[in-house]
Amino acid sequence: MADFVGAIDQGTTSSRFMIFDHDGNERGKHQLEHEQILPRAGWVEHNPVEIWERSSAVLQTAVNSAGLATSDFAALGITNQRETAVVWNRKTGRPYYNAIVWQDTRTDRIASALERDGRGDVIRAKAGLPPATYFSAGKVQWILENVDGVRAAAEAGDAVFGNTDSWLLWNLTGGTRGGVHVTDVTNASRTMLMNLETLDWDDELISFFDIPRSMLPEIRPSSDPAGYGEVTLPGAAAGIPLTGDLGDQQAATVGQVCFAPGEAKNTYGTGNFMLLNTGEELVRSEHGLLSTVCYQFGNDKPIYALEGSIAVTGSAVQWLRDQLGIISGASEVETLARQVSDNGGVYFVPAFSGLFAPYWRSDARGAIVGLSRYNTNAHLARATLESICYQSRDVTEAMAQDSGVTLEVLKVDGGVTANNLCMQLQADILGVPVSRPVVAETTALGAAYAAGLAVGFWKDTDELRANWNEDIRWSPEWDEQQRSEGYADWKKAVTRTLDWVD
Ligand code: G3P
Repeated sequence: MADFVGAIDQGTTSSRFMIFDHDGNERGKHQLEHEQILPRAGWVEHNPVEIWERSSAVLQTAVNSAGLATSDFAALGITNQRETAVVWNRKTGRPYYNAIVWQDTRTDRIASALERDGRGDVIRAKAGLPPATYFSAGKVQWILENVDGVRAAAEAGDAVFGNTDSWLLWNLTGGTRGGVHVTDVTNASRTMLMNLETLDWDDELISFFDIPRSMLPEIRPSSDPAGYGEVTLPGAAAGIPLTGDLGDQQAATVGQVCFAPGEAKNTYGTGNFMLLNTGEELVRSEHGLLSTVCYQFGNDKPIYALEGSIAVTGSAVQWLRDQLGIISGASEVETLARQVSDNGGVYFVPAFSGLFAPYWRSDARGAIVGLSRYNTNAHLARATLESICYQSRDVTEAMAQDSGVTLEVLKVDGGVTANNLCMQLQADILGVPVSRPVVAETTALGAAYAAGLAVGFWKDTDELRANWNEDIRWSPEWDEQQRSEGYADWKKAVTRTLDWVD
């Protein structure tokens, strides 16, 4: 009897495998980090082979440590850092180049050229995205233009592209011995190549980037009863069906059971990503948000979302640790920030990859403003936590304007939600309560839900809703004056970061 569903969560800094039971409780996990390759300012790469080896290792280690076998699993799901582009040779299995990560800004010229001649408006209309360095298509174009032999191999049908979900699914299902080349609608909606209405690759969009169509994976639902393939663990006679695939932020939305229009979640990882379910309606943003596919379960109609993507939040804390050395572990930021009772006038706008939502300014760069000699590391730590919350406030303002939905409570998840001070500041800065569920690993949980729904392990979304329980709630403590003055200062700080790069 299969009592469990598992999910690989291939994220920006690590890959993990998690095992869940029918109640959505965690029953095992393993996680490994991978190298962040930073060859030049603005460039961020990962080694795809390392990502595959670590993903495979975490799967096997978690299953073995939980003492489980293939027959214990009803299905497996996969979720991934989105937009990160891998191009590999389908005959040799070798990547042509490192994965170019979603945070990478090397395609700035490609993105700005799109904006100058009207193609940007076509991308906005068809793909629901502003032309930006963030998305996959420009990265594939860059590889085709800059890596020897790739263009010819692509035209011969040998070089193929995928986000890391496709790369892992291809390897998990056999790689050069016949692996599948597929992705799901949510990942495809992050490329700038998929038409949000047809849910298919769009020839006009593809032509903007001069990408041969044969490089692109087949687009499938996020929860697919037909299955993308099977993964066979070493020594096992039978395989486990792979039936769930969705981008990590969409997966977290599913894990947070935001199945009704108007329900939203905010995930605090390396960046922050707030998604608002807009149901079957494709809402087009007029305030700097993305329109994206939230999920598609089987043959049901797709569900759309509005998304506010913020590039740098948790990674700003890592920057305090790795580049400035003012803390030795990410958890120390809370202790340091608690040494002071306010930010001492300091605002930190961590626009390391330009600014994403709602600004979409690739010419922005980070700034720390308001400094006086009085300020200490503790003020900087506090300003860093506040920057996470103020960037989320920018996104909620845009969401309210686009959708008319005013948040009554913000559902949160992700690593940074372990930081109590940060979550209290989030409630203070937004003026609404912030709520975290018992199972905070909602990304892997959402991928497991998608996989389990496909095979009938869970019968419907109502059953999943019943699994969601609140763990902790933070209520606003600032008064309205403090909130509005702080936000006005934040907005002033943001203006100081713009027009920095020519
Ligand atoms: O769009 C980028 C996002 O998918 C990355 O998420 O959690 O891996 O930082 P995360």
